[in-house]
Amino acid sequence: LLMFKKSNMKIKILKKEEIDRVIAEEIITLINSKNKVVLGLATGSSPIGVYDLLVKAYQNKEVSFKNVISFNLDEYLNIDIENKQSYHYFMKEHLFSKVDIDINNTHFPSEENYLKYDEEIKQNGGIDYQILGIGSNGHIAFNEPGTMFNEKTHIVELKNSTIKDNSRFFSSIEEVPTKAITSGLETIMQARKIVLIATGKNKARAICDLIEKEKTTLLPASILKDHDNVVIYCDEDASSLLTKQIA
Ligand code: GLP
Repeated sequence: LLMFKKSNMKIKILKKEEIDRVIAEEIITLINSKNKVVLGLATGSSPIGVYDLLVKAYQNKEVSFKNVISFNLDEYLNIDIENKQSYHYFMKEHLFSKVDIDINNTHFPSEENYLKYDEEIKQNGGIDYQILGIGSNGHIAFNEPGTMFNEKTHIVELKNSTIKDNSRFFSSIEEVPTKAITSGLETIMQARKIVLIATGKNKARAICDLIEKEKTTLLPASILKDHDNVVIYCDEDASSLLTKQIA
């Protein structure tokens, strides 16, 4: 007898500006309601609007990041952290250098620390709020299709589709690193709340499969079906292949 657990995933279809506003407001409220907040942060184009709003809120003195601890999802392997395409650089540029976060409270997985990364997250109390994007092939962080659901932070070989997608940030496809270090799917699932941002037609297939198909390692994001506090935020384009009505 096969029993399928009904997913608790919530889906919201909004304009990108609305998605950014809702998520930024949630994060600000969370930071202002707790002594210490642990954020799980993502890179890529999807979270940039949220980071911009957080910077604005900081500038308007609506929030301080003094007591915020952050854990980024992933980083390329063998990339200089001063390289403009590194995720370290990305975070500095979009958030860390523009707010009052203590840089010692910011964390990235690396070749040196990855075996202890999950433990370090736990020691800090676990992630309160995790931001995710999604790859066009359904990856989250750099957990590519085929990744086991119980993986912790580990080193990965990137799929060609991911290298191609990410080559838009590099001057040529040859420059895109082929390996990365990523939080595992199990690492991500430990977060108390998860929001996933998907915009654009390039994400429509992955979003349709995530929402309408069963959980499968071929679509890493589908593990989120088992989490009880997840919201999937899509714009019109990313939701364009959905065949079922969303309540
Ligand atoms: C990269 C990152 C992911 C990100 C994804 C989508 O491969 N490792 O964390 O979610 O791409 O990126 P974007 O938001 O630019 O579409």
